[in-house]
Amino acid sequence: MELARMQHFEDLAHEYGAPLYIYDSSIIQKQYTRLFKAFSSVKDVKLNYACKANTNINVIKFIRKLGSGLDAVSIQEIEIGLKAGFSPQEIIFTPSGVNFNEIREATKLGVKIHIDNFPFLRKFAQEFKNYPIGIRINPHIKAGGNENISTGHVNSKFGISIEQVQDIIKLTQEVSLHIEGFHIHTGSDILDIDVFLQGAKVLFAIADKFPNLTYLDFGSGFKVPYKPDDKQTNIEKLGEKLSDLFNQFIEKYGKPLRLIFEPGKFLVSQCGFFVAEVNVVKDTPYRSFAFINSGFNHLIRPMFYHAYHNITNISNPAGKEQIYDVVGYICETDTFASNRKISEIRMGDLLCLENAGAYCFSMSSNYNSRLLPAEVLLLNGKAHLIRRRENLEDLLSTTIDISI
Ligand code: LLP
Repeated sequence: MELARMQHFEDLAHEYGAPLYIYDSSIIQKQYTRLFKAFSSVKDVKLNYACKANTNINVIKFIRKLGSGLDAVSIQEIEIGLKAGFSPQEIIFTPSGVNFNEIREATKLGVKIHIDNFPFLRKFAQEFKNYPIGIRINPHIKAGGNENISTGHVNSKFGISIEQVQDIIKLTQEVSLHIEGFHIHTGSDILDIDVFLQGAKVLFAIADKFPNLTYLDFGSGFKVPYKPDDKQTNIEKLGEKLSDLFNQFIEKYGKPLRLIFEPGKFLVSQCGFFVAEVNVVKDTPYRSFAFINSGFNHLIRPMFYHAYHNITNISNPAGKEQIYDVVGYICETDTFASNRKISEIRMGDLLCLENAGAYCFSMSSNYNSRLLPAEVLLLNGKAHLIRRRENLEDLLSTTIDISI
């Protein structure tokens, strides 16, 4: 990280308090343009931002302005998307295992809907005859950085099994279903581009059996770099190969088809920085622990997925490097990094965790009755507070205090 950025983040942490999430919109824009450009030889490409990665309405608004659509997984994400200015037609609802009432609600809002199970396909056909839908298929492809984020394999809960496509065809002969597209999503943190090409072949084979589709949705899962010199999905190469396959397919298909991706991490992971203050440094005969004023209540990825987040001491970048365990203040083992080389950490220093734009704030909680941090968006050279820090009143606002 450049010195000027460190200084800037220190200033922001002093102004808004630590811990603090900072998002740099120019990085989102760069990533959006890069992904879009990689598929420029396909006539109709749409990127639908998977907003579960970061649901701050201002981040969503910014991504909408870039030309993106929206991928939503709950009625609340749909509502936020509509508030952010998306038209219902620009939003695809891709729920998994929700109550059917939530699907009903989504039809009222007029958004596009992906169905991922047979009981709902039948129910949907009975209630909403002409409402177009997409179907999520489980392609039986094992992919993704770890078990928790691998969603397209044979034992995964997601999608209708590829082996049941024939049953979908049978169902369309029995009931009235208006199927517009098919969708797959095999996981997150996928490095190997062959996985995406394999997925494409699955979608093409299905589309061959459904002559009136308007789109194919390839999901997402592009791997971004976390560690210094980390590998990432070769988007340019993927763009070249997949675009070729797609263009060949639509020629054969004989009708125009839209190619959809739903990137989350790729768009917002690297734009985010999490700045926390060091409460205390505790040396034992065996280890040196740097405790920050945060925990897995604010950023759970290292504890939940053993994810690596680069950590820089922005208050002492020139200090002599030492080995630390960076840990939190939660009354459980909440280790952000173990045996990590960081420039000398002193009480009161500010540490900055990188890749904090995706699945960090959006996975935060109030565990230990801790308050959620503020969020700042850097936009056109200016810092904007886009979420204030929570206070005790917020925390108690839904509790009903009865007389006992
Ligand atoms: N589309 C669907 C249907 C998804 O389920 C997901 C992510 C995405 C798109 C976006 O995938 P991405 O581009 O972010 O890889 N919390 C985990 C990641 C969970 C991903 C869940 N689904 C993490 O922090 O690594």
